[in-house]
Amino acid sequence: MLTIKRFTVNDMTVDCVTDQKQPVFSFALESDQQNVALKEATLTIGNWQRNVNTQIGIEYNGPDLEPFTVYKVILEVTDNHGEKATASLSFETGRLDTPFKAKWITNGSYHFTEKKTSPKPMHFKRQFSCRKKVVKARLYSTALGIYEAKLNGEKIGADYFAPGFTSYKHQLQYQTYDVTEQLKRSNELLFTVAGGWAVGAFTYARRNRVYAKRQALLCELHMEYEDGTKEIMTSDESFSVTMDGHIKEAEFYNGEIYDATVNMDESQWEKASIEKVKINPELLAQYGLPVRAKEEFKPVSCNKAESGMWIYDFGQNFAGVISAKIKGKKGQKITMKHAEVLMEGELFTEPLRSAKQELVYICKDGQQTYSPTMTYMGFRYVGVEGGHPEDIELTARAIYSNVDETGHFECSNTMLNQLQNNIKWGAKSNFVDIPTDCPQRDERMGWTGDIALFASTASFNFNTRRFYDKWLLDVQKEQNRGGGIPVTVPLVRVPFQWEIMIPMAVDHWGDACILVPWAEYLSRGDVGLLKQLYPTMKRYVKACKFWAELFSVGKHRRVWRLLHHYGDWVAPEAGLWTWMGRGKWTATASLANTSNLLSQIAEILDQPEDAKYYKKLSEEASDAYRSLLMDKDCRVKKEFQTAYVLPLHYKMLNRGDAAKTASHLARMIKENNYHIGTGFPGTPYVLFALADNGYIDEAYKMLLTDTRPSWLFQIKAGATTIWERWDALREDGTSNTGADDGTNGMVSFNHFANGAVGDFMYRRIAGIEPIEGGYKSFKIEPILGGGLTYAKAEVETAYGQVKSHWTLKNDVFTIDIHVPVGTTCYLTLPNDKTHVLGSGHYQFQEGREEKEHAI
Ligand code: BGC
Repeated sequence: MLTIKRFTVNDMTVDCVTDQKQPVFSFALESDQQNVALKEATLTIGNWQRNVNTQIGIEYNGPDLEPFTVYKVILEVTDNHGEKATASLSFETGRLDTPFKAKWITNGSYHFTEKKTSPKPMHFKRQFSCRKKVVKARLYSTALGIYEAKLNGEKIGADYFAPGFTSYKHQLQYQTYDVTEQLKRSNELLFTVAGGWAVGAFTYARRNRVYAKRQALLCELHMEYEDGTKEIMTSDESFSVTMDGHIKEAEFYNGEIYDATVNMDESQWEKASIEKVKINPELLAQYGLPVRAKEEFKPVSCNKAESGMWIYDFGQNFAGVISAKIKGKKGQKITMKHAEVLMEGELFTEPLRSAKQELVYICKDGQQTYSPTMTYMGFRYVGVEGGHPEDIELTARAIYSNVDETGHFECSNTMLNQLQNNIKWGAKSNFVDIPTDCPQRDERMGWTGDIALFASTASFNFNTRRFYDKWLLDVQKEQNRGGGIPVTVPLVRVPFQWEIMIPMAVDHWGDACILVPWAEYLSRGDVGLLKQLYPTMKRYVKACKFWAELFSVGKHRRVWRLLHHYGDWVAPEAGLWTWMGRGKWTATASLANTSNLLSQIAEILDQPEDAKYYKKLSEEASDAYRSLLMDKDCRVKKEFQTAYVLPLHYKMLNRGDAAKTASHLARMIKENNYHIGTGFPGTPYVLFALADNGYIDEAYKMLLTDTRPSWLFQIKAGATTIWERWDALREDGTSNTGADDGTNGMVSFNHFANGAVGDFMYRRIAGIEPIEGGYKSFKIEPILGGGLTYAKAEVETAYGQVKSHWTLKNDVFTIDIHVPVGTTCYLTLPNDKTHVLGSGHYQFQEGREEKEHAI
């Protein structure tokens, strides 16, 4: 039987509200037969019909959609066996081009001028009554700052940090909330607007008022009555405002001060003022994923530290907030401090730098509950002062962008399983509306290099489509005239991001504009995203080429020296200047790689001339690397692992040179006792560079090494997320805090970048690797080693589940695989036998006697 497993509009199965004029449909199919593929499908909306023979990225191309309208879409499919299935979904249009009638409002008497701090939260209130029965009500709201809305005391929606973080000068999301059920006869609408990213202190320089001088709110409540009449309530001077609410202070870095004794009915309310907002962003219905409360944790222990603080351990490092049930006395002040690790039994807060990560809660009398809404922390431990655990029950909630988990990896080595867990938590903790570097210290910024290198691993584990779509629009809009991509997106300039850096292209960091959409295309098959970013990618590569050519002649024009590179960022046993000094190698390799990918993208987008041009550029950069940065034996003068990893993984060398280069890499790694020596750019690829060039044992040995520096040393040291530095903790329990190496004290225990090794676990250990976008065709080719006796991976692709489960028992290798409807799998068994498989479940066994059968 044929069934439609997943039918989406803009990648959502339900609740899609969109301003996109051509929403995009996709569907996945399931069948109990084998070799099933789509024959044809029909999509119908009203009188519009489209017949297609593809499952992914089908654009609506009918008459203009009306704003504020619910559309029902019917999908009918027929497969190559003649089986049929149907499904339907609904989506709603947002405002489309309807301008807001509402006015931006603020507290006009509040002049926030203090530097490096965040403003006091503003509260806006409006009372109103509904004279007739409401059959449909939608709240369209946004803010400069972050907001939470309540109707009649009850939170509207479940989002944290709406409207989300975008490059506000270009685009600002508005949210659409269905409040039909929440409306009563007489109502009170209450908004709390804190400084957030737009007004509050942000970046390690603690710049504030980046987009607005103080918070502002914009909202419209659209109500439709039973008798067909409509009414719109808008934000304007009919709202009142106060700064005298429960939340006295709120900031991402510092935390919250919350006074439960405040009675807001008695607060000083004044008339809201109309705000002149200095930016003019495009207002768009939320197109990214909202940030939501996800997993809940209970403390695994609670002990009194020498300092007198009660320390709760949640057993997992993550980004989120606590939720407290408190028995308190009026005026009692409880302080809760957050940290990722303990040092000598106390919270280790030095890595937080200027971020306090602290909650101060002033109790009212009796039982009460509290959970902050305008901040989040990166933590595993909470230290409580001013109360006793008998009276304070803490739980904790992870909060992150609402990505679905789409990947599962497990094998017979429990430490690798813990590593996989840490990789996932590294991602969850840093997918807080934008891809951040870390969730705790005074950064939490959209560093482009981190996600560029992690994107592929992330898209195995999560459905990142809407999450990336949103951020990539900012990347596109923030691209400077010179073609460079800022090193953080959305861009908030900080000292040392001199003007000169802004037009500059920075290798691997700027590569995000190619590496992220490419990873997403491979994983979800979204050609639309490639199309959208193609001009950005071209301008970026042009900028890279410009900087490489500057002041150079001949072949040297393809060696990219200037101007600024992060190079082999955070490579162990080296410091800032060494990392950056390796920039010539990392950048030249990056030029070869991005131009090669761009050539492939040009092919996909049917731009043959471009494809040829970028291929040639890539070859020239590869040749320059080979002939100018390596000697005739492919040696690099001052050797470092990344210098060999990149040309190998980016396929920059001919076969003979690749063999020589791989032997240098393998030698270096052996000499280093299989310890990792790579920084950000080399780490994702070092195991591929070994395993794909004949050094499978070495790759496994390196992966399984558990002395420092290595991935598994972190596991042995008790890590539950991925560290920024390989020696964030040392064997003796001390930390490399980077206090005096020029990084301004840079150490975090929750940076996803070095977790990019996850890619190797899916692609080589489980053997699953996409060939065509969305896994339309893919490989399964596990490589055995490391004493592993089984590995199991499942990936929920755009077409359905790809599965590779293998076991090795008494020299007999058995693999169970699943190939989704509409896809082709190229299976290679460890004995090099190959099979080309259409959809279905299969089992293969090889050993002394060989069997194969479909199940
Ligand atoms: C961040 C990194 C980032 C780097 C760039 C750091 O402070 O935490 O992850 O990519 O700066 O230099």
